[in-house]
Amino acid sequence: MKKFLLTALVSTLLVGCHAKQESTNDRLVRARQQIDLMLNEALARNAIPRTLDKEGQTVWINKEKFDWTEGFFPGTLWYLYQWSRQEKYRNAAVRLQSIFEKQTNAASHDLGFVFNCSYGNGYRLTRDPQMLDIMIQAGNTLVSRFNPASGTILSWNPDRGWQKLRGWKHPVIIDNMMNLELLFELSKITGDSTYRKVALSHADATMKNHFRPDGSSYHVVDYDPRTGEVRDRQTAQGYATESSWARGQAWGLYGYVVCYRYTQDPRYLDMAVRIARYIMSAPEIPADHIPYWDYHAPEIPNAPRDASAAAVTASALLELDNYLPQTYRDYALEIINALSSDEYRAATGTNNLFLLKHSVGSIPHNNEIDVPLNYADYYYVEALCRMLDKQL
Ligand code: GLY
Repeated sequence: MKKFLLTALVSTLLVGCHAKQESTNDRLVRARQQIDLMLNEALARNAIPRTLDKEGQTVWINKEKFDWTEGFFPGTLWYLYQWSRQEKYRNAAVRLQSIFEKQTNAASHDLGFVFNCSYGNGYRLTRDPQMLDIMIQAGNTLVSRFNPASGTILSWNPDRGWQKLRGWKHPVIIDNMMNLELLFELSKITGDSTYRKVALSHADATMKNHFRPDGSSYHVVDYDPRTGEVRDRQTAQGYATESSWARGQAWGLYGYVVCYRYTQDPRYLDMAVRIARYIMSAPEIPADHIPYWDYHAPEIPNAPRDASAAAVTASALLELDNYLPQTYRDYALEIINALSSDEYRAATGTNNLFLLKHSVGSIPHNNEIDVPLNYADYYYVEALCRMLDKQL
């Protein structure tokens, strides 16, 4: 009888433990285990992990070449510092972001991505004036790409690389909405309204020209840099001009939520809501809310998923929940639950030490298909930190 009672007690305890949902803090603890392993490698190489190559080896970024993703791993370390207050994350972030500190004049619109996620988070947490200097340099370069005729910041340089073949004159991609946070933040910190004016103009032109009536967006809008007229609408990383590239929808959502944060302008909130509704009601989104790489990919249901788009969406919806409480929260939490399942979250020590599996860089470029990506990890950790702030 005693033995039976003991067995029953142990079973109850085990079932109870098993059924208990992993808390947000547990998820951050688990993420930290993997990031610690990656960090050891990154520090030994003095390089930043990006993704995997076609042989399954980690792609490391060093200082030789600008890379639009180089801010994300230091940014993830800043979030770990915010959560844990452990100096080792602060020191490592400072060291790794110094790899690209001299790239503030790179000929790229991605300066907002790179410098806001790294130095921007660092400055937010430390108020180190040297970090602000770097942010200002990057912001000034971004502003130098502004074209007053179209009212937009130039995304890809039309005379370089694969873009040269497309015949564009002033291409603007929906991703560029993600560079506005750096500009808004710089005006707030420095009092110089130039950055904010550029950001507002870009957001307004994008709202007018990038979106379809259903709230979905084109990837690329090409402008005439002389007249500001729209020349064409196309895709680069999506399936087709009229399809919905999954990460593009997520970048647009995140971008307009940020615009609302800095302006309280209801037009931006409406735009964010329209995009959110499109994402949440799209019949092409699978039940677990992790989208296929393009909502209209012809190979659905066998098309690769894009965990990075899901992580960006979850983080954006968690901020939208601050302005419209309860409307978008459950969907965001369901995404995070899915990303924290074995299907998407790697077992510690596997997945070349990245957190999440199953993201897509660019299928049309045959690049980074069904791989881990450092920005999927960044927005996942950001979303966990936002959940913690909300005591979720
Ligand atoms: N250019 C950013 C992205 O690939 O989503």
